[in-house]
Amino acid sequence: MTKAFHYHDGQLHAEEVAVASLADRVGTPFYLYSAGAMEAAYSRFSGALVAQGLDALVCYAVKANPHLAVIATFARLGAGADVVSEGELRRALAVGVPAEKIVFAGVGKTAAELAFALDAGILQFNVESMEELRLLNRIALDKGVKAPVSVRVNPDVDARTHAKITTGKAENKFGIGYDEAGDVLREARDLPGIEVGGLATHIGSQITELEPFEAAFIRVAALFSEQRQAGLPLRRLDLGGGLGIAYEKEDLPCPEDYAAVVARTVGHLDVPLIFEPGRHLVGQAGLLVSRVLYVKHGRSRHFLILDAGMNDLMRPALYDAWHDILPLEEPATAELIPFDVVGPICETGDLFAEGRPLPPLEAGDLVAFASAGAYSASMASTYNSRLPAPEVMVRGARWEVIRPRPSYEEMMRSEKLPDWLL
Ligand code: LLP
Repeated sequence: MTKAFHYHDGQLHAEEVAVASLADRVGTPFYLYSAGAMEAAYSRFSGALVAQGLDALVCYAVKANPHLAVIATFARLGAGADVVSEGELRRALAVGVPAEKIVFAGVGKTAAELAFALDAGILQFNVESMEELRLLNRIALDKGVKAPVSVRVNPDVDARTHAKITTGKAENKFGIGYDEAGDVLREARDLPGIEVGGLATHIGSQITELEPFEAAFIRVAALFSEQRQAGLPLRRLDLGGGLGIAYEKEDLPCPEDYAAVVARTVGHLDVPLIFEPGRHLVGQAGLLVSRVLYVKHGRSRHFLILDAGMNDLMRPALYDAWHDILPLEEPATAELIPFDVVGPICETGDLFAEGRPLPPLEAGDLVAFASAGAYSASMASTYNSRLPAPEVMVRGARWEVIRPRPSYEEMMRSEKLPDWLL
């Protein structure tokens, strides 16, 4: 948890706002973001790179939390955006991220998405296959422009993170094989609709050690030097995102240590660098606030049944992820009960934590999941026809509902019955 979330007079606060007072106003469940914590995370990350004398553009990975207010918070600080769909690109443009600070990644960009991004004039396409390169070339030629391309290289390095969020191993679908990158670069140079800009890589997410970054950056730097010597006009290097955050109280590398690895491994190339951090900038800046609906004491288990479900926070069900659970009221006793913390969804997998020691909570009490600023609202669904949880942003003593809870009418409005059922 960041300093932005803290107990004051026994009550959990987000910056200067008591979280429980928001729960009364907004209803639960809801996501709560601290703008101050986002700004602090961005400043520290980019400051660490600058302190190493690196020429760095930080492109916030929109997928971590695509809310317009979140993207705008970073854009105001000078950030660019890393997008993986036309939807994310439109969001970044809508809040004023300059097109020349936007990079577009992803293995499955459609022709329409490529065309839209070309028209927008983005900084670079991180191309992930020869077929994509050729399609982009054709689209650019039709438009009479050149598409700026970096080749995403898969360095075949184990990021030592959860298997579902590892991207830089040879068996993953991402990037172009290390040994094929040279061929793709040469073809790219010779295609009239393509302008080769550089190399890109991204080896995974929630990376908790520096060694995988170091290994990947060394490999990519070697390829970069080799290809530049061979005459390819490489001018930029995109090192992706992936720096993890402490969900429990584990000791993680800090941005300063990460920046030192960057300087040591690629600094000698003397080219502008791009970074695509997502989780590191927003993860600790968000909570998911929920109310206890019922406490059920089973024969062998104590169940804490919340009004938030796996549809609001998928990470535990999908990755067995651990999120701290904080009572909004600081516990008056040291007594702890091992609770199975569950949501209301009709699936056994709707389980946030098993046997988690928590104070003796009761129906009506409020709790918050920590580290829910990244990949929580962005991965939410309306499964079980539950309404999307609202989002609230706090800055100092100010707060605003930045996305209200829709009504049930709104939920059904876009659906229609076919003629034969009318
Ligand atoms: N760049 C690319 C090309 C990516 O694929 C990703 C994340 C990022 C940047 C940002 O990575 P970050 O700095 O946030 O680690 N839903 C999962 C995480 C999936 C990450 C996918 N790619 C989770 O909840 O843990």
